[in-house]
Amino acid sequence: MARPQVVRTVADLRTLVAGWRAEGLRVGLVPTMGALHAGHVSLVETARRSADRVIVSIFVNPTQFAPNEDFAKYPRTFQYDLDVLSEVGTEAVYAPEVPTMYPPGAATTVSLTGPATAGLEDVSRPFHFPGVATIVAKLLIQAGPDVAVFGEKDFQQLAVIRRMAADLDLPVEIIGGATVRDADGLALSSRNRYLSAEERTTAPVLHRTMLGVAKALGDGLSPAEALAEGRAAITAAGFDLDYLELRAADDLGDPRPGVPWRLLVAARLGATRLIDNIAV
Ligand code: PAF
Repeated sequence: MARPQVVRTVADLRTLVAGWRAEGLRVGLVPTMGALHAGHVSLVETARRSADRVIVSIFVNPTQFAPNEDFAKYPRTFQYDLDVLSEVGTEAVYAPEVPTMYPPGAATTVSLTGPATAGLEDVSRPFHFPGVATIVAKLLIQAGPDVAVFGEKDFQQLAVIRRMAADLDLPVEIIGGATVRDADGLALSSRNRYLSAEERTTAPVLHRTMLGVAKALGDGLSPAEALAEGRAAITAAGFDLDYLELRAADDLGDPRPGVPWRLLVAARLGATRLIDNIAV
């Protein structure tokens, strides 16, 4: 398929989208930080089902990384990403530079409560969601898509973005894309490449344990007992566990009747922090 057109400025992005709109076409946006894998390909395919033209943004957003996190070494694979997107079919890649997204003097951040302060990722990454919400709000305002697709793998991020889009009346439908897994259950992530060979064999324990917790709940074990067993299994496998929690899938508050439940996990394996979640 054709290589995507690469757009670097807000003005060029708006001209492109305005042209499509004038033709009556629906536009989909898939925000990414690049280092694309099959999970991103699946998000593009999801966008394609709801849109005639698909834009993938590639921007490693500095404001969602704390100073001690991996911003500098986050994988940047732009030419490879363009190859991947040529294969799946993407009309445009929006790849702004940092000063385009954060011009000198930029002083505005989206302030969040609700799912962003649910006591999950926000505990160990307090800077993360304000940075994510600010950049996603900017991308949505700049591109003005009909739909935008985000992976369920980052389940708290998806809840934060849904809430923000609703609260700010952003005229866009937010769609969640199912997590793509390797054959052994490990959720695909750009950060999996940091795992050593030995860590890579241990990593699927997270997903296996979550399935075990879900089964234990189905068999009638109480949430407290099932979670305690799950936490013990993850720690015994050599992870440094941040959390294994059961939450309401909508606002990530405590589970309540009538709302689907979500089991969410974050744990460090060596220097790599992995997150995952499943419906239960
Ligand atoms: O999920 C990601 O890749 C990023 O958090 C996002 C949504 C592209 C914002 O930078």
